[in-house]
Amino acid sequence: MKVIRVDDYEALSKKAYEFFIHTMNTTEQPVFGLATGSTPKGLYELLVDEYKQKKQVFEHIQTFNLDEYVGLAKDHPGSYYYYMYERFFNPLNLDQKQVNVPNGLTPNFDEECERYEQKIAEAGGIDLQFLGIGVNGHIGFNEPGTSFSSRTHIVELTKSTMEVNSRFFETKEEMPNKAITMGIKSIMGSKEIVLLVNGEHKAEALKQTIEGNVTEDFPASVLQKHPHVTVIADTDACKKLQAQ
Ligand code: F6R
Repeated sequence: MKVIRVDDYEALSKKAYEFFIHTMNTTEQPVFGLATGSTPKGLYELLVDEYKQKKQVFEHIQTFNLDEYVGLAKDHPGSYYYYMYERFFNPLNLDQKQVNVPNGLTPNFDEECERYEQKIAEAGGIDLQFLGIGVNGHIGFNEPGTSFSSRTHIVELTKSTMEVNSRFFETKEEMPNKAITMGIKSIMGSKEIVLLVNGEHKAEALKQTIEGNVTEDFPASVLQKHPHVTVIADTDACKKLQAQ
């Protein structure tokens, strides 16, 4: 794993943005894997600025989001569908055909998981997957204990994740307890992965990801086994790494 240390969140977003632009401009039909949450907000803002200044075109890209809550309407501000359309897909004028978010409202979850995997395969796989990390080591919504051979599947969210993510909902009761997520094997199938980590609250998680044992008890540790992973981390997140 290559680790790029940066001073702060702004520098992290700028670096992530450079990876995005590089892949977009060097790949014929670039396919991006996207995350939601707080971490990639800066990346999306930079890309939208770029588009508004007419410096880049995005009409040849395809995107696949990692995950979605089960049971939230698309217009619910807590849904990842809403998050992506508000912050990224609408401002960039992306066509519906270019973007993919798992359907958390499907009447048939097995079918939806299968469909999502197939769609990724039909697109030729993901060229560049962006990831954030949960304090418990989750990537996507693959919580500790998830099999490394998992494909897109339904998960029960842990108490810790529900606690942390309830900040995106007006009341704790609104917070869903299930989600649909790309599996560990789906993520590991990406040609290249960029993991973004910022803040001291993620320092222990980053240490375990890079220096810990590779174990299903800490999902992000699987990234040690991927040949093309870059971690972009700020100074606060690197505080617990051995080589300072
Ligand atoms: C979101 C996702 C999650 C987040 C993780 C970190 O699509 O896949 O794994 O990346 O929960 O969230 P933030 O960035 O809010 O700390």
